[in-house]
Amino acid sequence: MSGSGHWDERYSAEEYVWKTDPHQFLASEVEGLAIGRSLDLATGEGRNAVWLATQGWQSTGLDFSAVGLAKGAKLAESVGVTVEWIHADATVWTTADKFDLCVVFYLQVPQAQRTAAFAAAAQCLAPGGTVLVVGHDRANLRDGYGGPQDTNVLYSADEVQQDLLASELPDLVIDHAGQKLRSVETADGGAVAIDCLVRAHRAA
Ligand SMILES: C[S@@+](CC[C@H](N)C(=O)[O-])C[C@H]1O[C@@H](n2cnc3c(N)ncnc32)[C@H](O)[C@@H]1O
Repeated sequence: MSGSGHWDERYSAEEYVWKTDPHQFLASEVEGLAIGRSLDLATGEGRNAVWLATQGWQSTGLDFSAVGLAKGAKLAESVGVTVEWIHADATVWTTADKFDLCVVFYLQVPQAQRTAAFAAAAQCLAPGGTVLVVGHDRANLRDGYGGPQDTNVLYSADEVQQDLLASELPDLVIDHAGQKLRSVETADGGAVAIDCLVRAHRAA
């Protein structure tokens, strides 16, 4: 996948490309976490950042597409929540701020950028904070539905684990790493996509 211009163009229609409901894994993955400050890296049109705000999180969404962020802001306004929007490149962005939850859904970039972004996602966790990464699994190319067809931007749960551990946080604990099937509605009926999902936390 390419630069922000590509995504700005993709998001240019009024309709939401990824719809406005949160991702189907998000609610169950964050259930039971102590609500605090959240960051949605590569937030796109903001569906997950907005949903987190509706659940009481002090929510931030970051993306390099200004058009996507503008749609996120519109969505937040329509449901009456506040989200902080950051226009930045997730593969070079760093912050001194700390978050209790960092989610990254489908940031499909080549390995060096991916490692930088996922390591930064772990580094910005507050003690006790959780990081959740969901992406198009390598196996999806052959056996699953949709997603990027470029092997350079696909990854596996093992690779995500290595990226998170590249943060060199001594207290990062991997809670789960594996493939997860996702149901997809298509014009021809139901299909199944293969995602990878990794969840980790910093010791409190
Ligand atoms: C497949 S979309 C997913 C959007 C959102 N996470 C969701 O699930 O609805 C991928 C997003 O990654 C963003 N993205 C890709 N490379 C990026 C980068 N280097 N920095 C920030 N955002 C990036 C794109 O702008 C796009 O919004």
